[in-house]
Amino acid sequence: MRFEHAPAAHYGDFASGDVLYSAPGHPGFPVRLTLELFERARLLTGRSRVGVWDPMCGAGGIVTTLGLARGEAITQILATDISGDATTLAAKNLELLTEEGLRRRARLLAKRSDARAEVVERLRERRRGASPITTHVSVLDVTRTIDVGLLPLGGIDIVIADLPYGGQTAWSSGAQHPPLQMLQHLRAHLSRHSVIVLCSNRRMDFAELPGSLRTFKHGKRIIKFYRGDAS
Ligand SMILES: C[S@@+](CC[C@H](N)C(=O)[O-])C[C@H]1O[C@@H](n2cnc3c(N)ncnc32)[C@H](O)[C@@H]1O
Repeated sequence: MRFEHAPAAHYGDFASGDVLYSAPGHPGFPVRLTLELFERARLLTGRSRVGVWDPMCGAGGIVTTLGLARGEAITQILATDISGDATTLAAKNLELLTEEGLRRRARLLAKRSDARAEVVERLRERRRGASPITTHVSVLDVTRTIDVGLLPLGGIDIVIADLPYGGQTAWSSGAQHPPLQMLQHLRAHLSRHSVIVLCSNRRMDFAELPGSLRTFKHGKRIIKFYRGDAS
């Protein structure tokens, strides 16, 4: 896959474990790839500002990066995961989208006289004066019937999901083919202009999925785009 929207640059400010919180067992996702996939998906939605949902958010790296780097194009963020530890971490990361959250992070890092405080300042500068982004974080098994009443799905235009690889993270699901179950649920709840982006390096995870709108390869990763199906 050629990068068309995210030029080669230093994306270190968004690296997980630096200013963004990380923890063992919560693998990050490449920042440049996150930005590229988001822009490709946004183009396909036909909307300039979009709501984004990561249904397997882990530490929330993807959505926090997007909020910090592309905040002007994002109205709301929904982050869900089956793991409560993951959603706790994701909520902490999403606080970095607010002035208060960044100030708190700056205070913490300054105490350790850490050079990362400079990164926080740059991130604060980015977010200064920007429209606030509504965030919602909750625990959810995306392979089970989604209780739509509990989730603000109305404004979601893009789903980005980094599927478990079986290394640091694995599927937790009673479903026979979790990726298929997940895709069916997502499609059923998202309208036709919406775009669902699934990433995995396990070819078998895509084996039973229907044909996609777009398919890309990036290194070991396979990336498939789908449309929502709800009217
Ligand atoms: C590869 S990790 C995602 C990492 C994330 N992109 C990040 O930047 O931190 C996959 C995530 O899927 C979650 N997961 C596994 N089974 C799930 C399920 N049935 N429903 C929702 N999340 C699930 C795991 O808890 C894990 O956090």
